[in-house]
Amino acid sequence: MTDERDRLAAGNDARPRQPEPADDVPEAAVRIEPLTKADIAAAVDLAVRVLGVRPGDRAEQFAADIAGERRQMFVAKANGQVVAYGRVLDLAADEAAEGTPAGYYLSGVLVEPAWRGRGIATALTRARLRWVFARTGTVFYVTGADNAASLHVHAALGFREIKRLASERSAAGVDVLSRLARTAASPDDGPS
Ligand SMILES: CC(C)(COP(=O)(O)OP(=O)(O)OC[C@H]1O[C@@H](n2cnc3c(N)ncnc32)[C@H](O)[C@@H]1OP(=O)(O)O)[C@@H](O)C(=O)NCCC(=O)NCCS
Repeated sequence: MTDERDRLAAGNDARPRQPEPADDVPEAAVRIEPLTKADIAAAVDLAVRVLGVRPGDRAEQFAADIAGERRQMFVAKANGQVVAYGRVLDLAADEAAEGTPAGYYLSGVLVEPAWRGRGIATALTRARLRWVFARTGTVFYVTGADNAASLHVHAALGFREIKRLASERSAAGVDVLSRLARTAASPDDGPS
């Protein structure tokens, strides 16, 4: 048996194997696409593995992102396999967190750890900004005040903090509400 076949046989368990970044996977092999029904199980699996959460009603929520007019989910695929996702959805006041305004919110961007630091969250966010700015001029997002990676990704795209909120879900006990407005210079996806 060749080394390659040994490797494949060793990985032949019930769990889907995740693609690892490798020198022979060009950056162009990562594609950003709207979620399809065929991607839902892989996206739920990503959340369960990486966040250590139960599946809960995620499959239903993701399916609703496909069917709903006021919500959308994008996935990043490497060689056809889901390695990241990000959502955007229209929320009522206080729905994202107590004290938040009604509007479109970026939500739940998650990148497979082995694929981080390659611009995938940024690409997913640009795709979501194009989608949302085709519908409205302002978009919000909320994250924990201690989530440096998330704050950095969004600040680099032009998001600015507008409010801090007491939070039970973040370790810091504080969430940050940030906003980005569509600009005349870059109407489709904000500052570049
Ligand atoms: C936050 C997260 C989505 C970033 O994904 P990513 O694909 O690695 O991000 P990108 O490669 O697009 O990085 C964009 C910028 O953020 C920076 N960045 C990424 N991770 C960082 C970190 N841990 N600390 C500081 N900056 C960070 C990058 O250096 C890059 O900045 P640059 O363009 O100035 O070099 C990823 O770390 C993740 O999945 N975290 C767990 C889930 C989470 O917290 N999601 C956010 C919930 S609101």
